[in-house]
Amino acid sequence: MTIHRIADLLRTGQPDQSINIQGWIRTKRELKEFTFAEVNDGSSLASLQVVINQDVPNYAEVVRKLNTGASVEVSGVLVPSLGKGQRIELKADAIAVHGEADPETYPLQKKRHSFEFLRTIGHLRSRTNTLGAVFRVRNACAHAVHQFFQQRGFLWVHTPLITASDCEGAGELFTITSLNLKDLPRTENQEIDFSQDFFGKRAYLTVSGQLEAEIMATAFTNVYTFGPTFRAENSNTSRHLAEFWMIEPEMAFCALDGNMTLAEEFLKFVFKAVLETCPEDMEFFNQRIDNSVLETANHIIDSEFERITYTEAIALLEKADRTFEFPVSWGLDLQSEHERYLAEELFKKPLIVTDYPTEIKAFYMRLNDDEKTVRAMDILVPKIGEIVGGSQREERLDVLERRIKAAGMPIEELWWYLDLRRYGTVPHSGFGLGFERLIQFMTGMTNIRDVIPFPRFPQSAEF
Ligand code: 4AD
Ligand code: MG
Repeated sequence: MTIHRIADLLRTGQPDQSINIQGWIRTKRELKEFTFAEVNDGSSLASLQVVINQDVPNYAEVVRKLNTGASVEVSGVLVPSLGKGQRIELKADAIAVHGEADPETYPLQKKRHSFEFLRTIGHLRSRTNTLGAVFRVRNACAHAVHQFFQQRGFLWVHTPLITASDCEGAGELFTITSLNLKDLPRTENQEIDFSQDFFGKRAYLTVSGQLEAEIMATAFTNVYTFGPTFRAENSNTSRHLAEFWMIEPEMAFCALDGNMTLAEEFLKFVFKAVLETCPEDMEFFNQRIDNSVLETANHIIDSEFERITYTEAIALLEKADRTFEFPVSWGLDLQSEHERYLAEELFKKPLIVTDYPTEIKAFYMRLNDDEKTVRAMDILVPKIGEIVGGSQREERLDVLERRIKAAGMPIEELWWYLDLRRYGTVPHSGFGLGFERLIQFMTGMTNIRDVIPFPRFPQSAEF
């Protein structure tokens, strides 16, 4: 028996067509002569309306079981719908109820629930309109990411999740160990002896695949990663997760300009693709979550991103008609209040800030001739702030060695990274895009915890 997807039926289903669907009941409306039920299978925001006449086998018993959340299989014939809001509906011949859902206890009844509440029922919240739309957009967006890079001949490389190096040098690493925590081996100085651990040294969950992506770019020219990354930053904000997905392209023979251009083309491409594949879901966000979602998307697609240097950004912030919580001066690491002021209020569109102070950026970024700034670029967008962080990489061996030492990084452990500068070194660049921040930006969802199915954040690893 062929099972039809509700999304396909709503788009192309024809009257008199015999069909079978499977899904979960969203609502039921019992009238005297017959009953309406809305069935949703997750393929689209809209549900299929099913009309159940009394001649359906076991009518009374079936209808009694059709509560919100129950799983059903329905066969019948499509008919033109007389009601508003749908072109066709399904006239049921037979209904099988697989699993009931007790209306006394099933938490998702037909009212609006807060996102905070929905987070406490992470195992059920994907069955709601909003989370359903989010995860369909997330899927479309992931597909578009691969399309974009594959069309341009980039190789998708799989970088390790377990690593021994701290790419960002920010010390936000989760250690992984198989040592017996009740009886840790100690060195002479009473430090934990990781040489007895699984990998013979201390290992972590990766914060970024960049360093390995650089290895692969010096063999394949253009590569990208798309995978989970982990950060133990104790940031309880609406833009931080402890586990998030990152997209990191890395390009050999590419300076910062090419990097910025790629990032801009990339964002335009994915917005366009998602508007094309998920028009209903995007319309829903625009109506129910944030009424600037569609305008923003079209703006991203049509307008050129602004480009300014960090030094220019500081000058603009100093001129701003307000006081910031973090006072502005050259050398300050831009905080989200500054980023949002620039993108949201001043430029009202994405902007790329380049050439940040050396002290506030990672060791691998290419040193400018002024020795005070590096070839970094961050893309800032309204509502979110930083969505992309990238740079041209330091390709000069001597300068890189100097930077690693200055950053206090263990230079012996980065021997392979330095080898890339010893053998066939090349100007190269890349960036990292936080996938959840992108989905947040696209959908207008205010909390990053609601754009990943199972969010991990301080004090929470549920489901
Ligand atoms: O700016 P970040 O730390 O850059 C890197 O990791 C580089 N290695 C990227 C590269 O050049 N290949 O992180 C990149 C992006 C940020 O701009 C942000 O969008 C996202 O990753 N991000 C987070 N997203 C959610 N939760 C967090 N805790 C995040 N930290 C960074
Ligand atoms: Mg950054």
